[in-house]
Amino acid sequence: MYQFWKSVLLIWIAVSHSSLAHLDWDSFLVRGFISLLANIRPNNDLGHPMCANLRDGNWMIEYIRKRLLLDEGTAELGKWIEENTKCFNNIPRYLVPSYFDVVITGIYILLIERSYKLMSDFVNRGSTFVRGLSLGSAQFAAFIKSADLPTLSPNLAPPKPPSRKNDKGEDVQTCVTLSAGLPHFAVGYMRNWGRDTFIALRGLFILTGRYEEARQHILGYAACLRHGLIPNLLDGGRNPRFNCRDAVWWWLYCIKDYTQEAPNGLNILADKVSRIFPTDESPAQPPGTVDQPLYEVMQEALRVHFQGLAFRERNAGRQIDEHMTDRGFNNQIGIHPDTGFVFGGNEWNCGTWMDKMGSSEKAGIRGKPATPRDGSAVELIGLSKAVVTWLSKLSKESKYPYSGIERTHKNGTITKWTFKEWGDKIQANFEKYFWVNTTPVPNEVRPDLINKRGIYKDCYGATQEWTDYQLRCNFPIAMVAAPELFSPQNAWTALNQAEKYLLGPLGMKTLDPEDWIYRGDYDNSNDSNDPSVANGFNYHQGPEWVWPIGYFLRAKLHFAALNGATKETLASTKVVLSKHFTELQTSPWRGLPELTNSNGSYCSDSSRTQAWSMACILEVLNDLQKIESAQTIFVN
Ligand SMILES: *[C@@H]1O[C@H](CO)[C@@H](O)[C@H](O)[C@H]1NC(C)=O
Ligand SMILES: *[C@@H]1O[C@H](CO)[C@@H](O)[C@H](O)[C@H]1NC(C)=O
Ligand SMILES: *[C@@H]1O[C@H](CO)[C@@H](O)[C@H](O)[C@H]1NC(C)=O
Repeated sequence: MYQFWKSVLLIWIAVSHSSLAHLDWDSFLVRGFISLLANIRPNNDLGHPMCANLRDGNWMIEYIRKRLLLDEGTAELGKWIEENTKCFNNIPRYLVPSYFDVVITGIYILLIERSYKLMSDFVNRGSTFVRGLSLGSAQFAAFIKSADLPTLSPNLAPPKPPSRKNDKGEDVQTCVTLSAGLPHFAVGYMRNWGRDTFIALRGLFILTGRYEEARQHILGYAACLRHGLIPNLLDGGRNPRFNCRDAVWWWLYCIKDYTQEAPNGLNILADKVSRIFPTDESPAQPPGTVDQPLYEVMQEALRVHFQGLAFRERNAGRQIDEHMTDRGFNNQIGIHPDTGFVFGGNEWNCGTWMDKMGSSEKAGIRGKPATPRDGSAVELIGLSKAVVTWLSKLSKESKYPYSGIERTHKNGTITKWTFKEWGDKIQANFEKYFWVNTTPVPNEVRPDLINKRGIYKDCYGATQEWTDYQLRCNFPIAMVAAPELFSPQNAWTALNQAEKYLLGPLGMKTLDPEDWIYRGDYDNSNDSNDPSVANGFNYHQGPEWVWPIGYFLRAKLHFAALNGATKETLASTKVVLSKHFTELQTSPWRGLPELTNSNGSYCSDSSRTQAWSMACILEVLNDLQKIESAQTIFVN
């Protein structure tokens, strides 16, 4: 199967920048062939630079052919291309562009059709929209030598990961990895991000039926667990960075999805994980030295959180982070004993997806995170609630060997919580600490910090207290992960506020436009001394990100049903999504961008196509399909 996907990737050059970008070819090539050919063909635009390149030499076709010859499963296609493009050496050069088009576009169409057939029914029988988004899984997934997955345990139960012989005749694992987005995150250590991977994994690999790739990612990142965390930057497990607090929760949440949606998904819990860092202090271990079942690795992550950990990032200093201040390298994670809320971080680091670190000396913001979101970030509470509720159920069914967690205090006493107790604590405290009532109520802690009512707070316990009360696009994530935490009426009120203030054409504003620090346009090279925007400081202070719109729409669909508003919500959801459909069809990248500027305007510093953007919209379409097919059954 891997071989097949590789050929889709290579041939679907329209979007295979991930395998091409590192060649540093002309940018037109990096932008892709197919969407260029699609424009060149009807206009017979033989003056296009791509046609000039094709006339000047056979590099492009050779590149494709040679890459296909590398693997057994794709070699045949490589040979076919070799046979059928021999004429390129004899025909007049001016004919080469059209021959190239005929060969490549022909293969492309066949492979795309075949790829739908190999994917899930949801894709294969899906709309043009669903199918277009599903191709994100071909676009972002590639085996890249400089950005590989840690080698999985040699003792892993079959199916084994794909491999190929290297120059020395040794087998080298060739698992794909998921680029966060293109062209910015194509190769090297910047390609693979823990949170991006696990936010995108369900959409791109589980809903599309590419379960093996999903499994390999879950196990490959598990291999790197250290300090109870999943790395922010993977770097093949060589120099992973543990400067994020959220990836581990996205990873656990994804394991839940995998067990529930992949065939025999629960088997993954016993899959062997080859630990690179069996203890926090151990040097990297070679594959297969320390194998553990996945459930032990999961339990370790939970145990370390419950015990509480303060650690300093290894190799702290300029060599790993150009801008972070010394205090930013000190990290902390824990579970609050009264509320069950996960918490962590400090004012000097940014451990969630809103991770912009100030870098402008001139504006006085170097080493200052724009959005530290320390304390308890709302989406992490939702994800952790979903995870402990699920584990509580599994444990009762004897499918997970632990019933809860424990913490040893300094005086030697032990506190034990079952997963159920943990979940109950979160349940009992969530509305109390996060809901900001539409009208003042007695005992509000900081009414002076309330700018908007009828919302859920973004955090609880941040050092910069006012930021807890900012209206941002994160609470809908918790609504999708753990809807039981929310009063349906309050949820509906808050979603209406989010719609009114945050919903943009393609993405969600990352901050309330009425907030004093809202700046809606991102320019990473803004060289001013304005501390609110210099060097793109406002990345998450207004610009409209695409992936959170997926969670917003899904939360709305869920709570619409509980508020008697399903019909109109189905309709409004489709209106919103029509813009994503247009973008997908017209973008030369055939993808959805990372973010837009204010009011959906083009952001030149955004990745043109981003894995989680495509994945999260695909998840909305999947929810829509489920709701509509349930309605059809009901009517019948
Ligand atoms: C031990 O420490 C914990 C946490 O500080 C506290 O709740 C508990 O009462 C202590 N127990 C004893 C026996 O001192
Ligand atoms: C930086 O951004 C501000 C606010 O948008 C703008 O007024 C200014 O011209 C920009 N400066 C530079 C040097 O790009
Ligand atoms: C946003 O863009 C739409 C469509 O281009 C336009 O109608 C609307 O006036 C714009 N709104 C703002 C606040 O700029």
